[in-house]
Amino acid sequence: MEKAGGLVRPVSATKLIGRYLAHQEGLPSLPVPALRQTCDRYLAVLEPIVEPETLNRTRELVTDFHKAGGVGERLQKSLEKRARGADNWLSDWWVQTAYLDYRLPVVIHSSPGLVLPRLEFRDKQGQLRHAAKLIAGVLDFKTQIDNETLPVEYLGKRPLCMHQYYQLLSSCRVPGLTRDSVVNHAKSTTPSTHITVAHNHQFFALDAYDGAGTPLSVDQLHRQLERICDASPRASEEPVGILTSQHRNTWGKAYLGLIEDQTNKDSVHAIQTSIFTLCLDSMSHHAAGETYHSGAARQMLHGGGSQLNSGNRWFDKTLQFILGEDGMCGLNYEHAPAEGPPIVALIDHVIEYTKKSDATPSPSAPPLPAPRKLLFNITADVKKDIEEAKHHLNAMVRELDLTVLVFKHFGKNVPKSFKMSPDAFIQIGLQLHQKTCSTYESASLRMFRLGRTDTIRSATLDSSNFAKAFDDPGKQNTEKVALMEQAIKAHRSFTDMAIHGQAIDRHLLGLKLQAMEDQVSMPEIFTDPGYAAAMNFKVSTSQVPAKSDCVMCFGPVVPDGYGLCYNPKDEHINLAVSSFNGCPDTDTGRMAGAVEAALLDMRMLLETTPKAKL
Ligand code: COA
Repeated sequence: MEKAGGLVRPVSATKLIGRYLAHQEGLPSLPVPALRQTCDRYLAVLEPIVEPETLNRTRELVTDFHKAGGVGERLQKSLEKRARGADNWLSDWWVQTAYLDYRLPVVIHSSPGLVLPRLEFRDKQGQLRHAAKLIAGVLDFKTQIDNETLPVEYLGKRPLCMHQYYQLLSSCRVPGLTRDSVVNHAKSTTPSTHITVAHNHQFFALDAYDGAGTPLSVDQLHRQLERICDASPRASEEPVGILTSQHRNTWGKAYLGLIEDQTNKDSVHAIQTSIFTLCLDSMSHHAAGETYHSGAARQMLHGGGSQLNSGNRWFDKTLQFILGEDGMCGLNYEHAPAEGPPIVALIDHVIEYTKKSDATPSPSAPPLPAPRKLLFNITADVKKDIEEAKHHLNAMVRELDLTVLVFKHFGKNVPKSFKMSPDAFIQIGLQLHQKTCSTYESASLRMFRLGRTDTIRSATLDSSNFAKAFDDPGKQNTEKVALMEQAIKAHRSFTDMAIHGQAIDRHLLGLKLQAMEDQVSMPEIFTDPGYAAAMNFKVSTSQVPAKSDCVMCFGPVVPDGYGLCYNPKDEHINLAVSSFNGCPDTDTGRMAGAVEAALLDMRMLLETTPKAKL
């Protein structure tokens, strides 16, 4: 506390804001890589994934693009100018193109799910008790956000940008007719104090703080959740939340119709401004073991369909915590404001909090006002929109193939014991026993102010040489090990390049968007088949490490591809693999089996080859 003009008041908010801003301003700006470097690296990336004729044509176009006085040079200069005048030349463009302009449904196509270990309870009381602790845990984390006292994270010795943490709470995506937006109410003059609770497809605003601004205790929250459940015993109303699962243009149009009615508008506003959403799901009868993980991953990604829990969501909400009566636990998050790692850090905090907060009953407090039910007037048009959304969502649910694999044989320990990067080891494992194709791995750009991600290209000449040699009975094991080491080293060096802002994908995107902004005709390197092949990520992957034993999951980014997310623990690896049932060439069970076999084959090769033992 500080004395201010004779008054005692809490430590000044401006001082704390100063601390956060000072940290942010101390971070370097994202560089614009050299044009020639990106062009050379782009051609190297293409080599293993396209036919020689395609590569030759792209090579000609690239040479023309970066020649002295050429269009590439002019665009590069414009981009460098943009970088000089911005906090981050890329981040706004990236959020716009990757998320807000993207018109496929956020469900499966954009919003990841996170599966947490199954909890002990199997009934409503257990669900509500845990939900109360979960809310209290998030509010505890929020205090650090509000005070701007979150500990700064580091990668090695480099401090990371913390901006994403400040975008997670009190924020929501809003649909538009052709482009969405994100609203964040955390910094408004009257910051939100309520959360949204979804139960039986009905929504409630639950004030999470008392009149004095103190967070409600676990007991108080529990009682409030009971009142919500008592007020919504059956899924008897129209599942208005399912509208948020639609194609974005469709939802954008339906949204305008929905909020024409003032009651609906107020209810939607309450959801959008709330700190986060808690979804109390009905029983979904999951099996135990690994089948549980796969079933839970589906619940987190899409809610299981209109007959199950898909209407018990507001998919535009940045953070939706999901708890089933059967101990199922996890979340779904809308991707525009943040990547997985800050979300998982929040979750790790909440899990620790829920473990230690098996609360002593709080002293009896005055009764709280009942949580406010958010009412919706369903007109014939809105009803029609809901029916269409149900139909569409159910088709998406049927179309998703998803398998969670808990790879129990080893974790980071084995690659580390061979002095190899575990992430590179896993990525090279994904390339083994597969046809070489454009493969995406996200790399964090948080070393830079407002940094988001760039792309590590895991399919390289080195990975393809190793994969070919592995299946060649004419090759000695020592040669195979040397090729594996080379592939892993190449992957790690691509990773280092990417996290230092020197990868190719965002630079190429920047040059392309700059051409649009400068209204020059689109350079041919962005319209030729080589570029299309490079951008057709048949395997889209991400590592999201966590202290808790969880796994994140997301859908494929192309109709005939796989989405693959993993959390490498010391002794095991959690992997979630997705694809679309409509594609005859993909099958997540087969892919998970191939990854398992590849990782075991690589370990076996290292353990049985004399050189590796030296
Ligand atoms: N020998 C022994 N140990 C090694 C090693 C080697 N040659 N190389 C790495 N290790 C160790 C590391 O020290 C680290 O140790 P720790 O477990 O004690 O922390 C561990 O192995 C993991 O390192 P590695 O496997 O190389 O991965 P990484 O932690 O450097 O992560 C990325 C690589 C690409 C995943 C990371 O840089 C990144 O960008 N993550 C963010 C991705 C993201 O945003 N995803 C979300 C999208 S929604």
